[in-house]
Amino acid sequence: MKSLKIVGTGVSLPSRVLTNADLERMVDTSDRWITERTGIKERRIADEGVSTSDLCADALRSACDDAGLSPGDLDAIIVGTSTTDTLFPSTACWVQGKLGLHGPAAFDVSAGCSGFLYGLELAGALITSGSAQRVGVVGGEVMSKVVNWEDRSTCVLFGDGAGAAVVTAGVGGSGVLASNWGADGTLASILYQPAGGTKRPATHQTIDEHAHTVHMEGNTVFKHAVVAMSTAAISAMERAAITADDVDLFIPHQANMRIMEVARERVGVPREKMMVVLHKYGNMSAATIPVALHEARREGRVQDGSTLVLTAFGTGFTWGASVLRW
Ligand code: UT7
Repeated sequence: MKSLKIVGTGVSLPSRVLTNADLERMVDTSDRWITERTGIKERRIADEGVSTSDLCADALRSACDDAGLSPGDLDAIIVGTSTTDTLFPSTACWVQGKLGLHGPAAFDVSAGCSGFLYGLELAGALITSGSAQRVGVVGGEVMSKVVNWEDRSTCVLFGDGAGAAVVTAGVGGSGVLASNWGADGTLASILYQPAGGTKRPATHQTIDEHAHTVHMEGNTVFKHAVVAMSTAAISAMERAAITADDVDLFIPHQANMRIMEVARERVGVPREKMMVVLHKYGNMSAATIPVALHEARREGRVQDGSTLVLTAFGTGFTWGASVLRW
């Protein structure tokens, strides 16, 4: 077991709400289609001047408050995001600047919706190796700025937000009991942002083609997500020597209620033990798991000794799962 403990959590969610009814006025869709196919009712949208680092800095500040620490106590900041402020430097560096810090290591993890769990895995490695004692792990996205608002097959899915956790060395029986992570880059083009990087730099043509927005083969993502999220969770649970009966709370990446339900059934956890915030926030990519974890704590669903299974899947493809003893 990695003796690792989450000592504080925080979130930042834009106040502007975009409902399914609002979307009905923007594209050819309906509340009924979105609700039945995804489970999403509304999502949050960042104001024009707000970038991913703004939400991540707010969330991390709140997580530090929750932990009774100051951001200056952190040795490293890891940000999981696909919607970076800039291609360089990292969003984590922008976050660090906004927190007024000089010195702690700061870097991004580009693992799509699995970004927070990749960050947690890295935080564990930094802490167990002695490289860091306190690490801020953040998942944050402003998806609304990389969505094609004329494409009904993607624009209804995503939302903006950030969630953060402060991770330290654990004591006693708490910590990460086991984890599992992986990737399959042969499937990279199934879900990606085609232009803006070195593969296809920005031109007038890329802008005309909406090539700076999310391109996704939804059905393919769906099939892989179900298998990868459940397989990663089951593998981590086996390594942790726990069964579905031992799980107090299952927190899957919140992409689509149908994906979450099938993954939950495959893992064998009852419906009432699955944390759901998808209906309120949509798919916030790397932010969904830390936001769901924070809300679960606020609702009293996480107690000392609780066993949590977190599992995610995202662009790359990437996947990850962690079994936590709180
Ligand atoms: O975080 C990881 C990233 N992404 C995901 O996890 C997304 C994974 N995929 C999904 O969640 C689902 O594949 C979607 C929600 C994206 C789509 O659901 P689906 O059940 O796979 O629908 P579909 O793509 O097979 O489309 C069914 C129909 C199509 O019409 P026809 O061809 O049957 O006439 C679409 O054109 O639904 C139509 N459609 C819509 N209709 C109303 C697609 N989007 C919409 C929409 N409103 N927003």
